[in-house]
Amino acid sequence: MTTTDKVFAGSIPEIYDRLLVPLIFETYARDLAVRVTRVAPGNVLETAAGTGVLTRAMASQLPAGASITVTDLNAPMLDRAMSRLSADNRISWRQADALELPFVDQSFDAVVCQFGVMFFPDKVAGYREARRVLKPDGNFFFNVWDKIANNEFADVITQALAGVFPNDPPRFMARTPHGYHNVERIREELTTAGFARISVEMVDGKSVAPSPREPAIAFCQGTPLRNEIAERDASRLEDATNKAAQALADRFGTGPIEGRMRAYVIHALR
Ligand SMILES: C[S@@+](CC[C@H](N)C(=O)[O-])C[C@H]1O[C@@H](n2cnc3c(N)ncnc32)[C@H](O)[C@@H]1O
Repeated sequence: MTTTDKVFAGSIPEIYDRLLVPLIFETYARDLAVRVTRVAPGNVLETAAGTGVLTRAMASQLPAGASITVTDLNAPMLDRAMSRLSADNRISWRQADALELPFVDQSFDAVVCQFGVMFFPDKVAGYREARRVLKPDGNFFFNVWDKIANNEFADVITQALAGVFPNDPPRFMARTPHGYHNVERIREELTTAGFARISVEMVDGKSVAPSPREPAIAFCQGTPLRNEIAERDASRLEDATNKAAQALADRFGTGPIEGRMRAYVIHALR
C-alpha cells in the first residue's frame, strides 16, 4: 500500500458517494446489515465507514434500542456520511483509525467493517483492535473484494490506465481494494489475533450503470486512484477517465452496462 492509497479527501468523498456507492457498495451494505441485525446487537461499532452506506442500511434495520458508533480515518468521508443521514439519536460519529480505536476494552456487541480491512497497514493489529473493543462472544463482521479479475469494471479500468501510463501503471485498485482476498490468509490472521469460529462466504453481485461514463468517473475520480493519476500527471485526469470509459464501452457496450462483482463476507466471534 502506498501513502496515498488511504487518502479519501478533496473531491473524492462526493464522487465516491454519488457514483461509486450505488455501483458497487450498496448491494454489499444491505447484505452486511442483514447479517448484523440477525445477531441482535445492543451496540455496534462501525470502522472505516466511509460515506455511510452501511450505516444507513443498519440504521434502517436495527431496532430503536440499538446504538451505532460510526468511525473512519478520513474526516471528509464521515462529513459526507453525516450529511446523508437525518438526525438519529442512536448514531454517534467519531474520526478514528481502526488500528487505534478510542474506546475502552469490551465495549461493543458487534464490530463491522465494510471493505475497509484491505486498507489496514497491519491486518493482525487491526483485528486485535477490533477484538479488544468487543465484549466476550461479540461478533466481528467484515467483507473484502475478491481478486480484480472477478470484479470486471475495476479490472477493465485498471487495464485501460496501464495504456495511459505504460511506464508506471496506476495499480491502486489491484494493490489495495483487490489485494487481500486469500481466504486462508484471512482465517490465519484472524486466528492469530485471537478470533474463533470464523466463517467465510463468497457473495457474487452485479454492478449496473446507465453508461460507461459513470463507472469511469467513479473509479478514476472518486477513489484514491485519482491521487495516483495526479501523481503521474494531474492534467491527464480527464483523458485517463475518457480512456477508461472507452475501454468499458469496448467491452460492455455504449448503453446501460453491467459487470460482475465478487466479495467474501467474514464473520468471527471474539
Ligand atoms: C473503500 S472505502 C469503504 C468505505 C465504506 N465502508 C463503504 O462501504 O463505502 C475504505 C474506507 O477505509 C477508510 N480507512 C482507510 N484506512 C483506515 C484506517 N486505518 N482506519 C479507519 N478507516 C480507514 C477510508 O477512509 C475509506 O473511507
